[in-house]
Amino acid sequence: MNFVTAAVPVILLAISGVYYYLDLSFRKRNREIQQKILGSKNDRPTSNKIAGGIQLGGPFTLVDTQGKVVEDTDFRGKWMFVYFGFTHCPDICPTEMRKMKAALRLLNNTHPDIASRIVPIFITVDPTRDSCERIAEYFKQDGFESFVGLTGTTEQIKNASKQYRVFYSAPDAAEKENKDYNIDHSVFIYLQDPEGNFSQYFSSNQTSAKVSELLKGSVEQYDQERLLEKEGNETETK
Ligand SMILES: *[C@@H]1O[C@H](CO)[C@@H](O)[C@H](O)[C@H]1NC(C)=O
Ligand SMILES: *[C@@H]1O[C@H](CO)[C@@H](O)[C@H](O)[C@H]1NC(C)=O
Ligand SMILES: *[C@@H]1O[C@H](CO)[C@@H](O)[C@H](O)[C@H]1NC(C)=O
Ligand SMILES: *[C@@H]1O[C@H](CO)[C@@H](O)[C@H](O)[C@H]1NC(C)=O
Ligand SMILES: *[C@@H]1O[C@H](CO)[C@@H](O)[C@H](O)[C@H]1NC(C)=O
Repeated sequence: MNFVTAAVPVILLAISGVYYYLDLSFRKRNREIQQKILGSKNDRPTSNKIAGGIQLGGPFTLVDTQGKVVEDTDFRGKWMFVYFGFTHCPDICPTEMRKMKAALRLLNNTHPDIASRIVPIFITVDPTRDSCERIAEYFKQDGFESFVGLTGTTEQIKNASKQYRVFYSAPDAAEKENKDYNIDHSVFIYLQDPEGNFSQYFSSNQTSAKVSELLKGSVEQYDQERLLEKEGNETETK
């Protein structure tokens, strides 16, 4: 009788030990499986990611359509959905921006919680003509009020473009004078995660439906990874 009474706590301890061990290995296994499905950090499934972990996007200081100074860090916690263009652009820029808008609208229809975390941003490569007022007017005319519009000094724009490896032609003195010129520029749409890290880019041949699907994939994958990281942290501290 005495022996049995003494053994009870030992047995209980042993059972809880086994349970704890099973729980830990279950979590670990679960994490391994999920990581396999998602791919490792350096081997993400989307085709649009640049191999080798190249960072696109980085620090910038610009002004918005209200004339307020805006830095890249102001967008932390949100997904930056960035396009470089200019308001006098005859067709490529409006097409790309309409695509961004349509992709977000599609996403908002099915996943409003995800869509609301993504901020469409337009950065001009034409600071000479694109003043805050000019961009605001253009947004109003063409229905891009949901975008954050950014401009700056020639040097600020040059610096910001450099961060995204965006190339564009600058007008010569005569063109600047008569204010009638076109700008050749790279046409990519960029996505950065809530920490400002580059996520992926979209090229002009992708449809809004495709972009919408890729946006959703990126956000969901990011959330999943943070969740796994959090679980991993909790397991470690147990
Ligand atoms: C998202 O959809 C809801 C209705 O489903 C609508 O009220 C809201 O304005 C939409 N948001 C955007 C940014 O389109
Ligand atoms: C542009 O970048 C250079 C080099 O990083 C920096 O020294 C300069 O202050 C920047 N200019 C502006 C206007 O941000
Ligand atoms: C993501 O951003 C954070 C904070 O800016 C940085 O510490 C981290 O190294 C970045 N991760 C990657 C994979 O670049
Ligand atoms: C779309 O454009 C990208 C880059 O310009 C190219 O690599 C890709 O093959 C094109 N995809 C299709 C389906 O045309
Ligand atoms: C997990 O722990 C690391 C290092 O302690 C920390 O930087 C990170 O923010 C934590 N992640 C989560 C999701 O709690």
